[in-house]
Amino acid sequence: MANDSNRFQAIISHCKEYGFIFPSSEIYDGLQAVYDYGQMGSELKKNIKDYWWKSMTQLRDNIVGIDAAIFMHPTTWKASGHVDNFNDPMIDNRDSKKRYRVDHLIEGFADELRTAGNENAAAQVIETMEALLGADDFAGLKKLIEEKQIKCAVSGTCNWTDIRQFNLMFATEFGSTVSTEDEDNKVYLRPETAQGIFVNFLNVQKTGRMKVPFGIAQIGKAFRNEIVARQFIFRMREFEQMEMQFFVRPGTQQQWYEYWKEERLKWHLALGIPSSSYRYHDHVKLAHYADAACDIEFEFPMGFKELEGIHSRTDFDLKQHQEFSKKKQQYFDNEVDPATGKPYGNYIPYVIETSIGLDRMFLAVLSHAYEEQDLSTPEKTDSRVVLKLPAALSPIKMAVLPLNKKDGLPEIAEEIIASCRNDFRCFYEEKDSIGKRYRRMDALGTPFCVTVDYQTKEDQTVTIRHRDSMEQERVPITALKELVLKAMA
Ligand code: GAP
Repeated sequence: MANDSNRFQAIISHCKEYGFIFPSSEIYDGLQAVYDYGQMGSELKKNIKDYWWKSMTQLRDNIVGIDAAIFMHPTTWKASGHVDNFNDPMIDNRDSKKRYRVDHLIEGFADELRTAGNENAAAQVIETMEALLGADDFAGLKKLIEEKQIKCAVSGTCNWTDIRQFNLMFATEFGSTVSTEDEDNKVYLRPETAQGIFVNFLNVQKTGRMKVPFGIAQIGKAFRNEIVARQFIFRMREFEQMEMQFFVRPGTQQQWYEYWKEERLKWHLALGIPSSSYRYHDHVKLAHYADAACDIEFEFPMGFKELEGIHSRTDFDLKQHQEFSKKKQQYFDNEVDPATGKPYGNYIPYVIETSIGLDRMFLAVLSHAYEEQDLSTPEKTDSRVVLKLPAALSPIKMAVLPLNKKDGLPEIAEEIIASCRNDFRCFYEEKDSIGKRYRRMDALGTPFCVTVDYQTKEDQTVTIRHRDSMEQERVPITALKELVLKAMA
């Protein structure tokens, strides 16, 4: 690939061509920053969800999962601070009437500097921006934009309004006769799944007999009216989050924060993506609810960007819900405090949150897996696009390809599929040459292709081809299932 922007475009095209991701309602020209997952994408997405869910709940005694509703009582968002604080500073270009998130506008400018080889200048701009954002210095931010002559991509001018705050929550109303102006009937599409966990903290703790420290995990949709939604599925208006809130004894939050920082990075690395593709970014400006926070950044085709957040949220959320609901959100800890010789007693737990965007994880996995390979020899030019997905995440695990459409070969292929489909997803294909079928499976990320040929009829063996090495070996049909399951483990 000539450059990363070309690579990103190639990945986006690949997603569409092979049924991973389509623009939403495409026949009506799509809807900005909303996407549909196709037949391959929905499988890959589900596999990522399962991988997260299993490692966060099934493999841990002290974390359980829930599935809360998207709609929540409107007071939830007053209590959480989202009604008052979930804003982004925006700026409008007077000529194009286009609105930008200030940090995105400046980051875009820094990206341009970087592309032009001006790494130091880019770093300086970002540093200045972060300091100004941290101080809520909107006049300073506007001055920075004007001084650097940052232009609107549409009008090409530097004719900017003052910077203002815009709330990112989508609102709708319950009932058919109420007006949208009626604040009492206003409900929001949740901008994060976390609050569904907080309001259920005591339900889960009591019914599940959970003892602090324990966690509640959830996967679900979240909605944000991102003003400048861009970069494909990196920033969407409707997306999915995989979040976990870990409730701890006050005073132990720093140690648990460090624990989860490490654990989450380990989870990423276990997928086989090299550690050089990840880095931590500790927050300078903390959200209103946090006493420590960092991002795990991933090297996307457009550079290192936030993939997951780990936040020490203190007791902010539970305290707020206690105040707004007038219902106690306390936990009784009967463990004995060695310092006093008495039980720790009643307290509102502190919380460590891990929050990862499922769609961003999808993009991370896919962009790392995507490879264009030149396979040319002196005799002929050849190439392939291969998705080197971890087998556990691949939409299809094994394709079974009869060499011929006749002579009983399709029947053997069908039998192989019947014996394995209960354990993993198989795919049958008899069209085109074997070479073409291999290429198609490479492009879908299928780790194994099994070819049924005439020898199979005689000795019940097949050729299995490994996607990444393209090596082939002869194995008995009876060995196939184990071989694939082992690769998926
Ligand atoms: N509960 C905390 C929370 O929501 P956040 O940093 O705003 O924190 C967490 O979001 C994660 O959700 C991000 O790291 C990112 O992966 C994902 N995310 C946030 N906004 C997104 C968007 N507009 N599109 C896709 N993913 C998004």
